[in-house]
Amino acid sequence: MTQVSYEKAGNVAVITVDNPPVNALGQAVRQGLWDAITCFEGDDDAQAAIIIGAGRLFIGGADITEFGKPPVKPFLPDLINRIAASPKPVVAAIHGTALGGGLEVALGAHYRIATKSAKLGLPEVTLGVIPGAGGTQRMPRLVGLDAAITLMTSGRPVSGAQALDMGFVDALAEDDLRADALAYAAQLIADGAGPRAVTDLPFPAADAALLADWRARLTKTAKGQVAPLAVLDAVIAGTELSYQDASATERRLFLSMLDTPQRSGMMHAFFAERAVAKVPEIKGIAPRDIARAGVIGGGTMGAGIATAMVLSGLHVTLVERDEDSAARARDTIARNLASAVKRGKLAEAARDAILSDALATVVGYDALSDADLVVEAVFENMDVKTQVFQELDRVCKPGAVMATNTSYLDVNQIAQATSRPGDVIGLHFFSPAHVMKLLEIVVADATATDVTATAFALAKKLGKIGVRAGVCDGFIGNRILSHYRTAVDHMVLDGASPYAVDRALVDFGFAMGPYQVSDLAGLDIGYMTRQRKAPDAHPLDRAPVFADALYHQGWLGQKTKHGYYIYDDASPKGRTDAAVTAIIAQSREGLGLTPRDFTADEITRRTMAAMVNEAARVVEEGIAQRPSDVDVVFLSGYGFPRYRGGPLHYADTTGLDVILADIRAFAQTDPHFWSPAPLLEQLAAAGKTFASLNR
Ligand code: NAI
Repeated sequence: MTQVSYEKAGNVAVITVDNPPVNALGQAVRQGLWDAITCFEGDDDAQAAIIIGAGRLFIGGADITEFGKPPVKPFLPDLINRIAASPKPVVAAIHGTALGGGLEVALGAHYRIATKSAKLGLPEVTLGVIPGAGGTQRMPRLVGLDAAITLMTSGRPVSGAQALDMGFVDALAEDDLRADALAYAAQLIADGAGPRAVTDLPFPAADAALLADWRARLTKTAKGQVAPLAVLDAVIAGTELSYQDASATERRLFLSMLDTPQRSGMMHAFFAERAVAKVPEIKGIAPRDIARAGVIGGGTMGAGIATAMVLSGLHVTLVERDEDSAARARDTIARNLASAVKRGKLAEAARDAILSDALATVVGYDALSDADLVVEAVFENMDVKTQVFQELDRVCKPGAVMATNTSYLDVNQIAQATSRPGDVIGLHFFSPAHVMKLLEIVVADATATDVTATAFALAKKLGKIGVRAGVCDGFIGNRILSHYRTAVDHMVLDGASPYAVDRALVDFGFAMGPYQVSDLAGLDIGYMTRQRKAPDAHPLDRAPVFADALYHQGWLGQKTKHGYYIYDDASPKGRTDAAVTAIIAQSREGLGLTPRDFTADEITRRTMAAMVNEAARVVEEGIAQRPSDVDVVFLSGYGFPRYRGGPLHYADTTGLDVILADIRAFAQTDPHFWSPAPLLEQLAAAGKTFASLNR
């Protein structure tokens, strides 16, 4: 079947791309478009052409099955230049999405008409590259430097309506895109409007201050990444060179990024996020219907979870302990919704409708009798959770899904508090729950498969990335987090400053260092966790006594304006504190430890080795389905740098033998903590990678 068809509607040629599911720009599509343009040029009856996508979108982008293979002719930049050089007008008719190469094809056309809701974007930076088919040279000509740089360095798409405002779409289609595009083409013919190649427009003049400002901003926000700064370089080339020369610069930059670790990390992340939804046990299993949800507890997590739910169209009943707490929860949700309105994500009327019709905040469980799914987010305490699940068992209708948002507790034990453990599952959201993408779906021993399927359907409805996890202390993410937290705490006990640890890991690419995270989460959380685990502690475990000392000082982190860092008006992001350093020194003295120096390199190596070692255990025990699921958890829930692909991709690229050698070296002084995971040893011995286990 040919993937591009050529037909006529009167004197307008209609070129249709039909390559399901996303009309990707594979070789056959590129050749088909090339041939269709040749046909159009030779067709004297055709005075204009439209390029349109069959199915639900225009052109989704490059063909991912061609990634990593040598490019095959016709190359995309040549095809787009060919379209642009047509002596008769070409109109791109855009619905659904036009992303990456898809939007570049549209920019090669002379005119663009789009549906209001179409999504148009150049997301190449999220895959570690830049637009490589003229996008960096055409977009600034249409929308100006600032808007073009914003689009290309964020990778975020805009709607058809926004694209019209910005100036890279010429007209909006009302209902029937094909009919409207034909009418638009007919009008162009009637007006005698000829071809209008974007590259004939002048490139905006260099604005030195603006470009310097962007460089400074990107150096900070896109820390460590090559692609966003390369976008800027390509745009600057546009201000200095002819289109031909500047697009050669763009191509050179693009090609130089194809074969880099950052590109490989970003691509791994992309494929890992697609693989994560593959859960064999729920294949073909219908999820239960979810329209009405309940949330128990309206604190930090409960209010965020309820916000995510109402924003996705669910009716939510939130149960609190008393009227005051219920009112506070409602206020928090209202504030979250107000900020969604402010950011243009939610219409005011929709917000009002949610608050009056879709959200009830109540005291007492009976209001949950018609809920299809309930998420418990009360205190992290087994007795409290057991009582809540007994209540839920009493009031919930048959078939209702009962979920817990516990961070660490045993979901099997929680399920046993009910007479229907098959309906119980863990839904571990991340804070703030209406923002963070990750949702760990913790499948307990008795969880019914259609309950698991329902959890994945819910994740999708909430716009979250659901990752299947098995039951263990901390599931995938918090279990590995606890382990590498121990490694960093050991370094501090042995002489590293928490500030040096944070700096090393932020320089590595983490969004925040571990002690900044402690301050954000609250030092009481870590303290409580240590208390809970204390009875099971191994005699050789070394506790971070300095963290307990800070807790006893009442320095709980950002909420008390003092934790590892001091927070005040002069330093809202925190500044170091000599008193903290002194407390840590005292703690070391008390334990009879002689401090030594740690280089930034040793700090990152120890942290990564600890993370990889525990992740190997998590995979080996089947807590995570596959190594790439661990990567998704850390990328979407723990601020792991995306361009490094996640901890296990990082391990593969570093070399498992290198990581294992580090672990064995660290074990010389602490064999208890640093015992190598058997899976890591097996893979390293066989010369295999974690990726070899992905399926
Ligand atoms: P929180 O202390 O902010 O909120 C707990 C809320 O539950 C309070 O508003 C309290 O009034 C209410 N509550 C307590 N017992 C109740 C009962 N019997 N009936 C109704 N409401 C009751 O706690 P947070 O941080 O929201 O944590 C809740 C759960 O979520 C915990 O299991 C925690 O481990 C988990 N979690 C917390 C994360 C975080 O970053 N804070 C992240 C992911 C999970």
